Amino acid sequence: MNSRIDTTQVGIVGAGPAGLMLSHLLARVGIDNIVVEKRDRETIAHTHRAGILEHGSVQLLTDSGVNGRVLTEGHRHDGIDLRFAGESHRIDFSNLIGESVWLYPQNEVFVDLANARERDGGDVRYSITDTEVFDQTTDTPKIRFTEVDGTAVEIYCKILVGADGSQSVARWSIPDTVRTDHFIEYPFAWFGILTEAPPSAPELIYANSDHGFALISQRSDTVQRMYFQCDPDTDASVWTEEQIWEELQKRVDGPDGFQLKRGRIFEQMVLPFRSYVCEPMRYGNLFLVGDAGHTVPPTGAKGLNLALADVRVLFEALEIFFTTKSCELLDKYSDTALQRVWRAQNFSYWMTNMLHSRADANPFERKRALGELTSVTSSRYGQQYLAESYTGWPHR
Ligand code: PHB
Repeated sequence: MNSRIDTTQVGIVGAGPAGLMLSHLLARVGIDNIVVEKRDRETIAHTHRAGILEHGSVQLLTDSGVNGRVLTEGHRHDGIDLRFAGESHRIDFSNLIGESVWLYPQNEVFVDLANARERDGGDVRYSITDTEVFDQTTDTPKIRFTEVDGTAVEIYCKILVGADGSQSVARWSIPDTVRTDHFIEYPFAWFGILTEAPPSAPELIYANSDHGFALISQRSDTVQRMYFQCDPDTDASVWTEEQIWEELQKRVDGPDGFQLKRGRIFEQMVLPFRSYVCEPMRYGNLFLVGDAGHTVPPTGAKGLNLALADVRVLFEALEIFFTTKSCELLDKYSDTALQRVWRAQNFSYWMTNMLHSRADANPFERKRALGELTSVTSSRYGQQYLAESYTGWPHR
């Protein structure tokens, strides 16, 4: 069997948006890096995830020279609609705090980054197998894997980065004695669809109802994304289009007669709901970014944004490390990243619990939940809290 040793400064496991963004930023300042990824490029480009970018994430994409597609193809949203008891309450981000978010699907972010790495001659190896990381606590941590043609490769690096998502090989390489897993599960999941239909509303609708939660999101003028709360062991494939539309519609029904615009459903799947944090997000010279270090439920649309925020912090620390040999910022990486992570965990948990209903909720709990939604929407301070968290806290 052929084998080979490659060397680089930063070895990155995972070519999702976090891994590729880090690779892109490092390359711009002349820091050599290699990215390895077990999936092929087409599969990642067609994996549907959430679609909301904080203004800070948009800025990172545009200012770092990835490209400006997010501004031309994405849609700026100046608010969201919180709908409960059949009534809509607009949270006007731009009026409340002068910020906005962009509707731009995560797979498009991937496409932009993958194209930028290719354009700039980045070394990204897709479709690899048997990934392992080792020697994390030495000065030469390593990645071992098999390339598509069967070559066994070891990458010797100075710094290893685990950007390999929620099933992270890098994270599980951290010994149990060093790692604390903070984890909760929710008694529900989301049933997600993609449909060929015109938009039902100009902005996202987060709807709470006696029948459960629904989210009405968009993708384009002709394709829409919607979700409704379901049981975690729902089998999405047995649901008919008619059943899905009925379920969605009853969660947004109200005296205003609001009707969803229906169309052919061409994708339906169930998304699990979890909150997870790995502490610390570092082991020796291995650093975790994005879902490898933490998972949030999708209600607050924080997953990708949090990953890009980690990358920003790690990039700055690596730039200092490779130019001055100072470990000061690298030593602070985990604590700095975790501060934002726990804020986002709190926001995602709060939005999730406020908007979903529990099958076993008694009338008191149901009325209390409406009291909470009324508190948020009837107070400018309540609305501002939501607006600030949703659009993204300042990066520094
Ligand atoms: C989506 O458009 O897929 C989306 C938007 C907002 C969320 C979650 C998912 O909170």
